[in-house]
Amino acid sequence: MHTVTQERMIRPARNVLGSLRLPGDKSISHRYGMLAAFAEGTSRFTNFSTGADCASTLACMESLGAKITRHEDSSVEVTGVAGHVTPADHPLDCGNSGSTMRMMSGLLAAQPGRFTLVGDASLSRRPMERIRKPLEAMGACLTLTEGHAPLAIDGGPLRAIDYTTPVPSAQVKTCVLLAGLQTEGVTTVREAIRTRDHSELALRAFGATIERTAESVSVRGPQALQAIDAAVPGDISSAAFFLCAAALFPGSSLVLDALGMNPTRAALLDVIAGLGARIAVLNLEEKHAELVGTVQISAPAEGLGSTQITGALAAQLIDELPVLAAIAPYTRGGIRIRDAKELRVKESDRIALVAKNLRAMGAEVAEFEDGLDVPGGQKLHGAPIDAGGDHRIAMAFAVAALRAEGETLIQGAESAAISFPEFFDLLDQVAER
Ligand code: S3P
Repeated sequence: MHTVTQERMIRPARNVLGSLRLPGDKSISHRYGMLAAFAEGTSRFTNFSTGADCASTLACMESLGAKITRHEDSSVEVTGVAGHVTPADHPLDCGNSGSTMRMMSGLLAAQPGRFTLVGDASLSRRPMERIRKPLEAMGACLTLTEGHAPLAIDGGPLRAIDYTTPVPSAQVKTCVLLAGLQTEGVTTVREAIRTRDHSELALRAFGATIERTAESVSVRGPQALQAIDAAVPGDISSAAFFLCAAALFPGSSLVLDALGMNPTRAALLDVIAGLGARIAVLNLEEKHAELVGTVQISAPAEGLGSTQITGALAAQLIDELPVLAAIAPYTRGGIRIRDAKELRVKESDRIALVAKNLRAMGAEVAEFEDGLDVPGGQKLHGAPIDAGGDHRIAMAFAVAALRAEGETLIQGAESAAISFPEFFDLLDQVAER
């Protein structure tokens, strides 16, 4: 597929003010879409993610027999295949989406037939050995291309396993659970660092019984899923760009409504509060066990302090690290990030690309195999930014640009649409110039 490269000029801002309601969470939309397509009956979702990644999940599941209707207002209706997919006569295109490829592989490994999964250039470089290992231990046959996509699955009946994930990954956990859901016996996934638990909550919402302990999740298969109606909470990883933008301007005030506040996703709020921003959470509610609330943020008059992000926190904040690193030069004491080696195998090598783009803006930064040191108290200037086809890099540097001197040109700005097509318009709405 040929994508047209777009450039976006970002001018400095004086302040960030306003109130926004963000599109549905990408992680939750993937799971609701995939499970609904596999369940029995018709599910209805409002505020479904508008990102291209979740569209990839829906398109793949449609090719496998689900019926999907999308509406202009971001609502979606999904009629599922009641546990039996129809193998497609063409490769399933996961686009840029690691979540689609890894989670769907688990679902399909237990289904009779041959399935081929492909992705774009970025996804075709990302590690897939991590799903082949547990699925093969369950008896599935997965053929990779030098450890990557394209991948072929010869699906069929599997055996239950007890699996400890070597890297913290919610996608791998979900992959194994979706295979286990369809497999006789108890399948357990153990993780040393607890990753986002949307799959566990979503499986329960669709009627499955899931057992959890502090470090493990188990499913006894086979179990059938039943359709649900749900409103998808706003995406906190998309909110991260606005929260960080607001944190940069003394006098800022931003309100984000109906935002997902799942504790396995909300560590960013503690980190920004630790940097000195004032954060209030109002109207907390639970929807299908997902917490949703209103977040108010305002920045400290004296500017942001400093912080270190290491260990389990680095894993929990993995998607928010690019934007935290991008605003780090504007803090007083800088930000130190370690134990984040996974950043190198995301949609791009995010450690290298963050360092490169910070330097382009005149910042000093030290790059490590598993992180970055970004000193504080720096002044940045506008520069051409290479988004590297990575949505989170494009958006992170649009935020850094708000406090830079002069204009910043985001090259490859279209990649924001992978998770957040509305990003640049909403940024214009809240950035006072
Ligand atoms: C996701 C899990 C994370 C995250 C990705 C979405 C998910 O990846 O980086 O953006 O929805 O499960 P890993 O599972 O590879 O850590």
